[in-house]
Amino acid sequence: MGLYLARRDWTFEIVGTDVNTERLDAASRGVYAARALRNVEGDWLRRYFRPAGRHFRLNEDVRCSVRFQYGNLTEELAPRKSAEGQDIILCKNVAIYFRPQMRRRLVRRLYEALNDGGYLLLGHSESLWQMEDGFALVEHEGAFCYRRMAARPRAARQRDPTPGARWRRTGAPPKTRARSSSSGTERPAGPAAIQAPPSVSGEEAVGQYDRCLAMFRAGEWAQAEAALDALIRSSPTFVPACLLRGGVYVHRGRYDQALEQAEGVLRLNDLEARAHLLVGMIAARGGRHDEALQALRRSLYLDDSLALAYFWLGNL
Ligand SMILES: C[S@@+](CC[C@H](N)C(=O)[O-])C[C@H]1O[C@@H](n2cnc3c(N)ncnc32)[C@H](O)[C@@H]1O
Repeated sequence: MGLYLARRDWTFEIVGTDVNTERLDAASRGVYAARALRNVEGDWLRRYFRPAGRHFRLNEDVRCSVRFQYGNLTEELAPRKSAEGQDIILCKNVAIYFRPQMRRRLVRRLYEALNDGGYLLLGHSESLWQMEDGFALVEHEGAFCYRRMAARPRAARQRDPTPGARWRRTGAPPKTRARSSSSGTERPAGPAAIQAPPSVSGEEAVGQYDRCLAMFRAGEWAQAEAALDALIRSSPTFVPACLLRGGVYVHRGRYDQALEQAEGVLRLNDLEARAHLLVGMIAARGGRHDEALQALRRSLYLDDSLALAYFWLGNL
């Protein structure tokens, strides 16, 4: 990005890691096939590369400002030269191969490695879906990345290392409070920050939800709606219940209410794929095809296992 030219008074350190030493050797050579540079615009190509046969070689002054080292992302992150945290981490197309639990662990490590306000950039088809606690989604020229928000106070962090994570894993609503009663400190409001504690236990809420789902599947809309109303009154941020109530509204032809429900969920977590699916289904039923396509594609971008979204896209 030319940072080293524009900011000669800055000191910075760029480290590239991989678990495969052959990839590290190739990276330090800095030789690229034309295809790999197809998105590098003319000026940049001329300024920073020299032709090398049918390939291009990155200039020495850029290469020598990057250090490559072995690093396994499934283990603790390698210690760095400077004691300071990192300002930008690019972690592209690696975590997609990890199991969800490992991916979650990696995201926490990357979070810890970043300075407050530091950026995390993922591959273009990746997101921190359901692991975004502590990060804010930042849009830049149509692309997005994540920015680490200010760290939580230590006491709060020990009580609740990944706020909302257990809830989202199990589908049960959280028991923790957004405001800690002992210290009066507030948790940073992430995209999926949980606002209010439920008055029923997680297990109880899940049991109630299962009963609502059974009614929904049996087509008992009125009973399902009444039961969901009661459940959401006691657990207003229990997303699966809110989405199911949206589904009931759709089946009863109350599209405005369904949309309100989906939008409410997106206010809690704008990366909730099923809420985008609901928005898409409502738009499709209302004949707003462009809007429907956009919402359905968004839902699949966030979760490509949503069969219903493929079905509706196919219909459209
Ligand atoms: C699909 S490539 C992506 C490379 C690059 N980040 C990009 O987007 O062009 C995946 C890379 O991740 C590396 N990798 C796989 N598992 C890893 C691990 N546990 N720790 C570090 N790197 C790993 C592979 O060796 C490979 O170079």
